[in-house]
Amino acid sequence: MNFSFLPKYYQFFIIGAKNTVLLAFFTVALGVVLGIFLALMRISKNKILNFIGTAYVEIIRGTPLLVQIFIVYYGLPMMGFKIPALSFLGSAGEEFIAGIIALSINSGAYVAEIIRSGIQSVDKGQMEAARSLGMPYPMAMKHIIIPQAFKNILPALGNEFIVVIKESSVMSVIGIHELMYNANTVRGNTFIPLEPLIVAAGIYFILTFSLSKLLGIAERRMRVSD
Ligand code: ARG
Repeated sequence: MNFSFLPKYYQFFIIGAKNTVLLAFFTVALGVVLGIFLALMRISKNKILNFIGTAYVEIIRGTPLLVQIFIVYYGLPMMGFKIPALSFLGSAGEEFIAGIIALSINSGAYVAEIIRSGIQSVDKGQMEAARSLGMPYPMAMKHIIIPQAFKNILPALGNEFIVVIKESSVMSVIGIHELMYNANTVRGNTFIPLEPLIVAAGIYFILTFSLSKLLGIAERRMRVSD
């Protein structure tokens, strides 16, 4: 094993890891907002809303992320939507924004299912009891159902964060300088094909493993309050 490239190239991995985390963070934030709306659509009694929510989830989960990112990156500009390049994120060109859009569109579908199943896992009697005490539906949702659903939703959301960190590596195909892309740059520059990948894998693992440990702690805390 030859890691002699590290003193000269370690910055590539640091910047790559930073961009990976940024990408995942914005994706999960947007994905949760999108997922809440989709989940509400899916549990609503309105047939049209229900259909739109269900179709969205099925289509997004039934097509590869790789295809989705290409469709967003090349398709949006062709439909006359110019993807903006935002400078406040440092290296964020339009590919970074396209990456966030595509990943959040994808993640939103999974988050919707997490939230929907979280809400539906709360026993029906809870809603009935709240309503029989005279609480209106939105109030019962807010004070009785959502706080209980939260315990099921939070761990799964953390899991989604971990998945998104790993899936963001696919975004290297459109040239986002995240961890995988930068590892490939190092491979090309040094003619060392294997070791940069091992470094990248190590960093991905450190990110996901620490996140999952944190989640474990949060989960245990919530169980105590039961
Ligand atoms: N690898 C999957 C695909 O190509 C993406 C899965 C994304 N999963 C998620 N929970 N956001 O479609």
